[in-house]
Amino acid sequence: MITETFQRKILMKKKASRRSRILVTANWKMAFLPNEAEALTREIAAIQVSDQLDVVLCPSFTALEGVAKTLAGTRILLGAQDVFWQARGAYTGEVSAEELRAVGCSYVIIGHSERRREYNENDQMINRKVLAGLAYGLSVILCVGESSDERRQNIHHARVSRQVHEALRNVPPPRYGQELVIAYEPIWAIGSGYPAERDQVITMAGVIQQALVDVFGVQISQEATRIIYGGSVVPENVKGFVDQENIQGVLLGKASQYASSFSTILGKFSSARI
Ligand code: PGA
Repeated sequence: MITETFQRKILMKKKASRRSRILVTANWKMAFLPNEAEALTREIAAIQVSDQLDVVLCPSFTALEGVAKTLAGTRILLGAQDVFWQARGAYTGEVSAEELRAVGCSYVIIGHSERRREYNENDQMINRKVLAGLAYGLSVILCVGESSDERRQNIHHARVSRQVHEALRNVPPPRYGQELVIAYEPIWAIGSGYPAERDQVITMAGVIQQALVDVFGVQISQEATRIIYGGSVVPENVKGFVDQENIQGVLLGKASQYASSFSTILGKFSSARI
């Protein structure tokens, strides 16, 4: 019989390699009807993707099932753009983590700034979503990031650190096969065409890393978490944001919505070392 400790050891070995891999996540937002999402998925599935890359596509809820079918037999993974914290019940319009699992999701984006802004999602709600996502076996991509005002006032580090701490309140370490990804997405960089500067991202990755260590300790944060950047990433700048040591991937909006730019970005990481 495999003991809990033994299982944990195997898991640690496997997880130890996570940070040496690059995560490329596509946030398709509300851009596509199901048939359009499936067509784009077919184009993406035909791209040669390096073994060192983890690729996750996050279409709208209505496209999940079709995209899951299109992805069958590929290494590309499926994610959702949101989740509700309750498991089941009278919650009109909501979608649970179990439902996401049932259609083939292994990832979920939580706390995107568009949701924080449009639906007043606060850190407490996001915390409940993170707890639910992990409890049902999903890997979570938690989005954090400051506004331009917060950066101007020089409270951006404190703001992002608080977002991480609040979102991870009482969150147990990710289990076997799961990971927790923190996506640093400064609000002013999303969809603006003005990405953050590399130094700004690296500094913030340090702040996030510290918050992760506060919550999980050094070992778990090394083994079961990754930090990625999102906000106006395009083929021309993507490599500047990823350096394995600090930032292990990207969250793409616009650039993931065209097979050509997405494929160029994947191609940039085609060699094992970056
Ligand atoms: P963008 O979006 O790449 O279009 O700036 C990123 C995001 O919203 O996750």
